[in-house]
Amino acid sequence: MTELTKKQMEVMDSFIKEQPKIIVASGAKRAGKTFVFILLFLMHIAKYEGQGLSFIIGGATQASIRRNILDDMEAILGKELKLNKSNAITVFGNKVYCFDGAQSDSWKKARGFTAAGALLNEGTALHDMFVKEVISRCSYQGARVLIDTNPENPAHSVKKDYIDKDGQVLKNGRVNIRAFHFTLFDNDRLDPEYVESIVASTPSGMFTDRDIHGQWVAAEGVIYKDFYKNVHYISSEEFAEKNIVSYFAGVDWGYEHHGSIVVLAEDDRGDLFLCEEHAHQHKEIDDWVVIAKDVKERYGNINFYCDTARTEHIERFRRERLRAIYAKKSVVAGIEAVARRFKLHKLFIVEDRVKRFDEEIYMYAWNDKTGEPVKVFDDVLDALRYALYTHYYKQIITGRM
Ligand SMILES: Nc1ncnc2c1ncn2[C@@H]1O[C@H](COP(=O)(O)OP(=O)(O)O)[C@@H](O)[C@H]1O
Ligand SMILES: [Mg+2]
Repeated sequence: MTELTKKQMEVMDSFIKEQPKIIVASGAKRAGKTFVFILLFLMHIAKYEGQGLSFIIGGATQASIRRNILDDMEAILGKELKLNKSNAITVFGNKVYCFDGAQSDSWKKARGFTAAGALLNEGTALHDMFVKEVISRCSYQGARVLIDTNPENPAHSVKKDYIDKDGQVLKNGRVNIRAFHFTLFDNDRLDPEYVESIVASTPSGMFTDRDIHGQWVAAEGVIYKDFYKNVHYISSEEFAEKNIVSYFAGVDWGYEHHGSIVVLAEDDRGDLFLCEEHAHQHKEIDDWVVIAKDVKERYGNINFYCDTARTEHIERFRRERLRAIYAKKSVVAGIEAVARRFKLHKLFIVEDRVKRFDEEIYMYAWNDKTGEPVKVFDDVLDALRYALYTHYYKQIITGRM
């Protein structure tokens, strides 16, 4: 029998006794939010065993539903869960439909449903209209909605519309909304050494507040708080000593703003080095092709991870036989990946090979209104982020990096 953490027991207790219509678990990553919700969701479906009712699982993408929900659900049930043609699985004689809910038109998928319950994974990654549609589709007698989420901006609708309404009671006296806050330290089922390594590798400031302590804090101030010149700058001489095993590049298109290409080198210890920077204003695509071909000449047929704002430039690179790849542009996740490497001392800058980087690094700041970076002093840093986040994307999203 599975042993729950103290926090998970509290959540289960509320789910069973108070029976809130909507229950929210918000907080740190790996805190045990999804795990307890999968159990509760299965318990809930089991109550309607064999009735052929509909339930909904919502996640950002089908891939994230698989990764975050179905894999753990399979482990708990001890059987394989295969989606049918309408992305549904059968659980305890009921149908559970899996909907990806990140897009502005995602809500249409849930339209017309009558569901007896829903499990919404990573609420802030879902479109607000999708969340609201799913909740309103849960109209069957006794239907329950479970939402787990990592924290984001305090102004986010998941926070304002649900978490801030914790304890809301319906006219009939039933609790409508109950919200629980999780920190990483609530998950005492994790190996303490693993917890220590997560804490040590999580970037300072906002990322630690959110990912470790589970707080809904706004982004503010300098973005790369763990960057120190005396730690992260190395000289060309020092770089020449490294045993480099591979190279790749990042590209941020720009004309009035600086356009930039950066080259990254990985050594045999997995350390990464920004070893070349090209940042210019008022250069045409023809000029960038010349620069990129010169890079290819010296480093081989390496990947160029490119800003997708100008797909015609990417096509041009490809026609020129440059290996141009669409970059993954999730801003906060990409920044976190770069920041994590600074914090871990696994990313270095070859000081005498950069100029614009040096101007940008301390100027690169959060816009506390939008929760995104202020869009100045970001050109070389964007190229760096595209390259790093896209190149290691698989390892990053599966938590291996
Ligand atoms: N009560 C528990 N017993 C055993 N393992 C657990 C328990 N709760 C969580 N875990 C494991 O801890 C890890 C993080 O839990 P998860 O629920 O995915 O966190 P979150 O959704 O908060 O990010 C997962 O590998 C999960 O299987
Ligand atoms: Mg989770």
